[in-house]
Amino acid sequence: MTAKVRKAVFPAAGLGTRFLPATKAQPKEMLPLVDKPLIQYAVEESIQSGVQNIIIVTGRGKSAIEDHFDVSFELENLLEQKKKKDLLQQVRGVSDMIDVSYVRQKEALGLGHAVMRARELVGPEPFAVVLSDDVIESEIPCLRQLIDIYEFFGASVVALMEVPKDQISAYGVVDAEPVDHNGAKNRLYRIRNMVEKPKAADAPSNLAIIGRYILVPEIFDSISKIEPGAGGEIQLTDALKHLLRNRPIYGYKFEGKRFDAGDKLGFLKATVEFALRRPDLGGLFRDYLKTLTL
Ligand code: UTP
Repeated sequence: MTAKVRKAVFPAAGLGTRFLPATKAQPKEMLPLVDKPLIQYAVEESIQSGVQNIIIVTGRGKSAIEDHFDVSFELENLLEQKKKKDLLQQVRGVSDMIDVSYVRQKEALGLGHAVMRARELVGPEPFAVVLSDDVIESEIPCLRQLIDIYEFFGASVVALMEVPKDQISAYGVVDAEPVDHNGAKNRLYRIRNMVEKPKAADAPSNLAIIGRYILVPEIFDSISKIEPGAGGEIQLTDALKHLLRNRPIYGYKFEGKRFDAGDKLGFLKATVEFALRRPDLGGLFRDYLKTLTL
């Protein structure tokens, strides 16, 4: 029987250079979309996917993340006194939500290196990796979609998305063959090879790896064996490529819409769409947008 995915690793120790100066003193994972930090959307996706045990890999500005998921007695007292019940519930909800542990990545040496920092806490079991700057809206949470594939095949799964050629060199890209699954021919792929940030001309396909993964614990051995790759960083894609020598890896073109909230334009698009969908703000915001001369 396939072991259950119980733990999710949230790397949040990157430098966030694309979002400077906002990320000088706080991680980009704390940037708010409307009124919730990016990492909270991702944590909620994880909980809705049945994974409550959260491991956050922190770097600079880690206290903002820890404080966010911690109990804030002062704030709770104040809201209680002012009889702001809804806000109190929301604030309590965040700290009650999860069983969270933290591990530090002292230097941003790459995503693979960040995942490796969670090795002790993960132990010998399959686990999820969630990059909070990829915000994904979907009916079935993206992570759940991947876990379903993992439970069927008992193998690692990465989220895939079709990306236009002129943007492909920003991603890990796969060479993969389609696999029939549940009557669908165009969602599931068995990966043959992958390459991190290829030149557009060298990209093996238009299928890019997006920030959701289900990984078997053997990935840690692979990370420990690879050398720094693109940008001088220990790349998770290179470790996956190493793992492929002995283990199958699947790619799943998830159902849903992904926003690259680690990038300024992507972040703005997500903010507008999330605000428009909010029952308490959407109407007023739409009316306001209509007054703009575009
Ligand atoms: P990115 O490459 O998007 O993040 O990493 P970055 O390096 O912070 O951003 P830019 O490109 O400079 O703007 C994807 C994810 O991996 C984490 C990041 O926090 C982000 O969630 N990461 C990356 C780490 O935790 N450690 C690293 O060394 C690198």
